[in-house]
Amino acid sequence: MTTLNDSLRSKIMTPTTKSALGQWSSGWTFILATTGAAVGLGNIWKFPYVAGANGGGAFVLVYLACIALIGVPLLTAEIMLGRRGRQNPIYSMRNVALESNRSPRWKLAGVLCILSGFFILSYYSVIAGWALSYVIESSLGHFKGATAQQVQEIFSTLTNSPLRLIFWNTIIMMGTVTMVMFGVQKGLERTVRFIFPGLIIILFLLVFYAGTTGYFRQGLAFLFAPNFSTLTANGVLIALGQAFFTLSIAYGTIMTYGAYVPNNVSIAKTSIIIAGADTFIALLAGIAIFPIVFAYGLAPDSGAGLIFQTLPISFGNIHFGTLFATLFFIMLVFTAFTTSISILEPSVAFLIEKYKISRKSAAMFAGGACWLFSFGTIFSFNIWSGYKLFGLTFFEIIDYLTVNIMLPLGGLLITVFVGWRMKKKFILSELKLKDPLSYKGFIFCLKIITPLAIVSIFLNLTGMI
Ligand code: ALA
Repeated sequence: MTTLNDSLRSKIMTPTTKSALGQWSSGWTFILATTGAAVGLGNIWKFPYVAGANGGGAFVLVYLACIALIGVPLLTAEIMLGRRGRQNPIYSMRNVALESNRSPRWKLAGVLCILSGFFILSYYSVIAGWALSYVIESSLGHFKGATAQQVQEIFSTLTNSPLRLIFWNTIIMMGTVTMVMFGVQKGLERTVRFIFPGLIIILFLLVFYAGTTGYFRQGLAFLFAPNFSTLTANGVLIALGQAFFTLSIAYGTIMTYGAYVPNNVSIAKTSIIIAGADTFIALLAGIAIFPIVFAYGLAPDSGAGLIFQTLPISFGNIHFGTLFATLFFIMLVFTAFTTSISILEPSVAFLIEKYKISRKSAAMFAGGACWLFSFGTIFSFNIWSGYKLFGLTFFEIIDYLTVNIMLPLGGLLITVFVGWRMKKKFILSELKLKDPLSYKGFIFCLKIITPLAIVSIFLNLTGMI
């Protein structure tokens, strides 16, 4: 008797060379789009504030180790699974598992990834909305010569108002849904080509200003001199979560974008480029921000508002600050957009492939649901700010659960699958590594180092090791 698994298996025995939903026009477009997905608020907004809240140097060191030892192998694994499976993360995991004679239940890893992406987008768009509102604030010259206190007032006026937050968040969500409706390829390449160089130039300008404050060394020391007494087990878990968050690992994006990769693209090289660019931008943002934090007596651990309360001070004190601030926040919004569309894409790909609905309906449905869910985050900063569980607001709970628990768990499933369950011949045929040592190194990381690191970070948190 033919079982359902057998018939599925026979259907996917000949791997497709192209996703039904499209293909990147070249390897370069894929690199740009994936870098656009990875680089975003995680680098400029989140990295500085989580590094600040967890003591700086030692945290940054663990974060960098997580990027190199866990991030790069997982990035490679995810692109490979996407390209092999050629569908949304749930179906790609199922296809590749069946092809390797494994249980189709591995698709649950894809389910976890898509859910994580959905929850992350629900707050990501709210923060992108803050950046959008700052485009207006800066273009009106509100930061010109502003004191730290004035900047803080501008920030709290924004976050205390649910209506304002709903307004900005709605614009971001509508923009995201519209871009996803038109397909992932159009416009992404051009956006990333313009935005990245611009963003890096302005970040250098801010670093230069930070160098004039007299607190540059202190900022650098905070960021790079490790003091392990400030690092807790929870801090280590947060560093791991940040590595996942910033590289967009385990929320379906990379696997979905991987499904659109042409067969001739080198996956390993691409992963290294993406991780390198992403880390460079995060560190640059940190170097620009911490000297200002110390120069103006702000608290490095002041939380999610950190860049919105520090960078306007820098812009307010440099020549042509209004112009640069406006350009900076415009670019921040664009990088957030290239990320938010990448986070919505996996759910949309799933809805299209599962229910055979149009891209337009799928984008509106997934985006609409996410928009509704984002009210929880919006209210956490105002009318629900007093409601806490374990001392955390709704936003903080969603952020902690997704980034620090769900993403590492998704990553663990992916690493165990590729390291222990996927057939070697399929890995070899996707990676096309010329040197056998590279394959051995890659598999050793995914089999041993990555799972061990993730599991020991979890156990460390529970006090078991
Ligand atoms: N990887 C995305 C970012 O860092 C989510 O913004």
